[in-house]
Amino acid sequence: MSHIVDSVSLGAIVQVRDRLLDMQAKGKKILRLESGDPSFDIPAHVREAMEKALRDGQTHYTASTGIPLLRNAILKKVTEENGLGVASADQVVVTNGGMHGLYVLFRAMLEAGDEVILPDPMWTEIAENIRLGGGIPIPVRLHPETGYGYDPDEIEAAITPRTRAIFVNTPHNPTGAVAARVTLERIAAIAANHNLTLISDEAYEHVIFDGQKHVSLGSLPAAQRRTVSVYSMSKTYAMSGLRMGYLVVTDELLLERLKKLVRCTINGVNSVTQYGAAAALNGPQDATRTMAAEYQSRRDMLLAALEESPYLEPFKPGGAFYLWAKIKEDWPGYQGKADDWSMTNYLIDRVGVGSSPGSAFGPAGAGHIRFAFSCSTEQVREAAGLLPAALRAAGG
Ligand SMILES: Cc1ncc(COP(=O)(O)O)c(C=O)c1O
Repeated sequence: MSHIVDSVSLGAIVQVRDRLLDMQAKGKKILRLESGDPSFDIPAHVREAMEKALRDGQTHYTASTGIPLLRNAILKKVTEENGLGVASADQVVVTNGGMHGLYVLFRAMLEAGDEVILPDPMWTEIAENIRLGGGIPIPVRLHPETGYGYDPDEIEAAITPRTRAIFVNTPHNPTGAVAARVTLERIAAIAANHNLTLISDEAYEHVIFDGQKHVSLGSLPAAQRRTVSVYSMSKTYAMSGLRMGYLVVTDELLLERLKKLVRCTINGVNSVTQYGAAAALNGPQDATRTMAAEYQSRRDMLLAALEESPYLEPFKPGGAFYLWAKIKEDWPGYQGKADDWSMTNYLIDRVGVGSSPGSAFGPAGAGHIRFAFSCSTEQVREAAGLLPAALRAAGG
């Protein structure tokens, strides 16, 4: 029997990133559209709060699940903005990024062999953290014909006696699809009928375009008492390297387990980051809105370029900062759906544009490619200028 950690990959995007960094180190110009790391600096008041925390000597162990200042700020935000029914700040657990939140959540929730339904394609780390928790990811395919919607009928059809939870992510990585309220309501009703937990990953709640409003699954009446909400401050405040996320959990047993796991894994997020996060939540939110507007203009620029490019069928994302495109079968490097690395490799080696192969996002991702437009506007503009001609040239 192999070790459970052997079921986890080293990550395709990490492989691409390492290659790009290596090429950059050798002096080659590379446009970094492979990973979702905001190009922006953190807002000035967040930086100042962190500097002050350092000067004030806030460098000691903190309460394991987060300093009261931060958990109260989170309580206020999730109540007023997300519409979650949270009784107290005790139901908020501060984690080392959303990733760590997902790890402790699945580890605390799942018994060996429990199934978790999730969309396919999906951010791979979700499936991997389910496996690390002893569970089995059950993919439900998203279809381009329906704008990569997560179909409640297909979710219901995937339920078995071993199903423990339904995982929802909107706006969605890697497609950028935004779930409609009515879809979320139907998913909530299914979870209630089958007595399942809902996990709502809202890492991209503030990266949403065209005036749409983000709907938090946990705010819906049928979902309220059965949802664990997962948040990240990486995208909203460009705090990716500072590692800050949080879970909102109302189930008492799960909360108890999570507190134990947080203590045994990190025993509290970096104290200085926590002061910065409190300032981010309590302070003005205009930086977040400015970033979202900039992401939207990058999306438009890149989408126009991909629409002009041969061999690609791009999907217009309603949120997140990814452009997902199907690789057409007349692509010269096409070797069947199993090989979507050919375009990624071609663009890296011949054009200097990084991207991620779709198969990094689950079985349904094969034959697709994902471009992240979280790098600088200048890089997106340059990549948009290069791609159509570069792909045309690939045809010979
Ligand atoms: C869907 C999704 N959830 C959660 C996260 C977690 O981000 P972090 O660990 O930086 O908070 C990411 C990051 O890319 C993501 O794409």
